[in-house]
Formats: sequence, structure tokens, C-alpha cells
Amino acid sequence: MEIIVTGGAGFIGANFLNRLVPELPEHRFINLDKLTYAANLASLRAIDSLPNYALRRVDITDMDGVDAVFEEFDPDLVVHFAAESHVDRSILGPREFVRTNIEGTFNLLEASRKRWSNDDNRLFHHVSTDEVYGSLGETGLFEETTAYDPSSPYSASKAASDHIVRAYHRTYGLPIKITNCSNNYGPMQFPEKLIPLMILNAAERKPLPIYGQGLNVRDWLYVEDHCEAIWAVIQKGQVGRTYNIGGNNEMQNIEVVDTLCQVVAEETGSDVAELLSLKKFVTDRPGHDLRYAIDATRIREECGWEPKETFDTGIRKTVKWYLSNEDWVRDVRSGEYRKWMDLNYGDRTR
Ligand code: NAD
Ligand code: TYD
Repeated sequence: MEIIVTGGAGFIGANFLNRLVPELPEHRFINLDKLTYAANLASLRAIDSLPNYALRRVDITDMDGVDAVFEEFDPDLVVHFAAESHVDRSILGPREFVRTNIEGTFNLLEASRKRWSNDDNRLFHHVSTDEVYGSLGETGLFEETTAYDPSSPYSASKAASDHIVRAYHRTYGLPIKITNCSNNYGPMQFPEKLIPLMILNAAERKPLPIYGQGLNVRDWLYVEDHCEAIWAVIQKGQVGRTYNIGGNNEMQNIEVVDTLCQVVAEETGSDVAELLSLKKFVTDRPGHDLRYAIDATRIREECGWEPKETFDTGIRKTVKWYLSNEDWVRDVRSGEYRKWMDLNYGDRTR
């Protein structure tokens, strides 16, 4: 099979490729990625010289560029990870989110529709987020039938992309599947997201900025479990169907930060009280969703998937990975990253 993986140099895409490329030498994986600030080719070092891996630097908003890659490889499967993915960036600059997440997805669908006849054994797998469902209150879970109600420009752009993917199935019969997953953590995540930011800041004795009161709840899933879930849906899920993926692991942000301080202290032989004293409550994110939680019954029953990692085991692996991959961290902390830290956290005082 020829498999186009978009956004394969980002956090989840790189974990997906690192797992599957060596394991499935009979398939060729083509990483179609613009290589934005969020990409890191160092994440692909273990596979980039394997014969069943290729990289094409293409922006998915460029229809001609997308067409050229489809012409070159005639994919049987597209796994679409590429996106602008950070909520805070979407608040400060939403345009790229609309362009990449909506128009870029549209271009990939068009490229697929032009080439695939409907009875083909091909598949467009769209990777999406639980944030399309908006916010839960204290109780309840997101199901696949929950109405979309996105809050941020990021989640609204992902919601739009889900709708257009589904519309291509209903209207043109394009074979698609969609997965909506909860918050991921693990190795190779860009350190603007909560968990790697807190690990690195704690290790470097920098402030740990917690939005609002730290009471917002996320359902954390180890990235390899997400990658396995996507592969399970590709193999066993029904065409045209949506599957929610979650870790069954709800935690308030403050609990996550406290746990990270504890694990970083243990792994570095530091004083946990010193790390906990770095916590700093800062101005809340506008439109901050209170709680996300997933009902993953469908993927469990139809695809036989369950997460393997607990938060305790996954977070320990993650902390160890960031502490022992200083080169990777140095690579991603370019001037652009420092600019972002100033822009996002510079005037968040209270
Ligand atoms: P990421 O920001 O780490 O990586 C995104 C990748 O997409 C990068 O390699 C980047 O270069 C590439 N990209 C961005 N714009 C592009 C463009 N115009 N053309 C081509 N490539 C482009 O993101 P991630 O955390 O790995 O997320 C991957 C996917 O999973 C996204 O679609 C996201 O919405 C979804 N998702 C993420 C999470 C999470 O917790 N991270 C949870 C659920 C779903
Ligand atoms: P994030 O990792 O940005 O994921 P998402 O917004 O997609 O859920 O944030 C996770 C949670 O952590 C979210 O409730 C916002 C909060 N947060 C902080 O409290 N401080 C921070 O510096 C960041 C980046 C996030």
C-alpha cells in the first residue's frame, strides 16, 4: 500500500510513523508536511533512511503541490494529521487555522475524490479532536452523537474540517473515517502544550503558568495509544463512521502540574517543594472549555481498542524522554519559540 501521512513531522504524526514504518516494510509511507514551527525532523531520525519512507515538503493549502504528491504516489490510504493545533495560537492568530485546517483538508479531499472511484478499496482517515464538541459541565461524556459546539478558532476549524470530510462521504461516496481524540501527551510534543511546557520549566526552575484556577479538566491519553487507536479504526472501523478515542483519565490541570512536579523531582533528585513553589496562576484563556471527557465504547466494541498506558506509567516515560533528549528540545526552541513565549505569557499577570 502507498500511504500518505500528512503532518508526519509533528507530534502525533511522528509517533505514528516511528511506530509503523519499521513494522510494516510492505507499505510505503509518504510524509506530506509543510514543516511549520511545530515540525521537527529530528523526530524522524530513526526512520528517515528506511526504504519505505519518503518526505515531501508541501503545504496542504497549495492544491497544485498536493496534486503533485498524489500523482507521484497514487495513495491507497491518506492519514490526515496536518493541522495548526494549538488553541492559544488560534486565539492570537486564527487565519492560519482556517487556511490549513479547513482549506487544506478540502484540498486533500479534492485530490482524493479526483482519483478514487467510489468502489475502490481506498480510505481517507481524518484525525480530529474531542474539542469539536465544546465544553462539558461537571458530568457527562462526549459521545459520537454529541452535537458540535466548538469554542476556539482551533476547535471551530477542526469542526468545519470534520463536516467537510463527512460531506464528501455522503455526497460523493468518498470512503472516509474520522477519529475524535482527547488530549495527547508523550515524547516529541512541541513544548508550548501544557505537559512538555511544565516538565521543561520545572526542570529549569522557571514559572509554571496555570490558567485561571487550574480547575479545567482534560482526559489525557498517551500518544502511542492514540496511534494504535487510529490504526485499529483504519483496519476494523466502518467506512463513513466516527470514533471517539479517550484515555478514561480525567484530571484537573492543577493535579497534572502537581504530578509533574513530583515526577520531575524524583527523576532529577530535586526538592519537590521547590518545584511546586514555581506554580503561578495567570490570566485565564478566553473561552476556556471547562471539561472534556470521552465515551470510548464504540471503538472498544467495534475495533477492540483500549489504552495500554496508565497516566502514571505514561507520564514517567514522558518526563524521562524530555530529560534525556536535550538536543531535540534545543532544536525546537528556535527564535520563533521564544517569540511565542513572550507573546503568550508576556503580559499574563495577575
Ligand atoms: P502538531 O502541531 O505537533 O503537528 C502538526 C504538523 O502538521 C506539523 O508537522 C506541521 O508542520 C504540519 N502542518 C501544519 N500546517 C501544515 C500545512 N499547511 N501543510 C502541511 N503540513 C502542515 O500537531 P499534533 O499535536 O501532532 O496533532 C496532529 C493532529 O491530531 C491534528 O490534526 C490535531 O488536530 C489532532 N489532535 C491532536 C491532539 C493533541 O492532543 N495533540 C488531540 C486530538 C487530535
Ligand atoms: P493545551 O496543552 O494547550 O491543550 P488544549 O487547550 O488543547 O486542551 O492545554 C491543556 C490545558 O492546560 C488547558 O486547560 C489549558 C491549560 N494550560 C495552562 O493552564 N497553562 C499553560 O501554560 C498551557 C499551555 C495550558
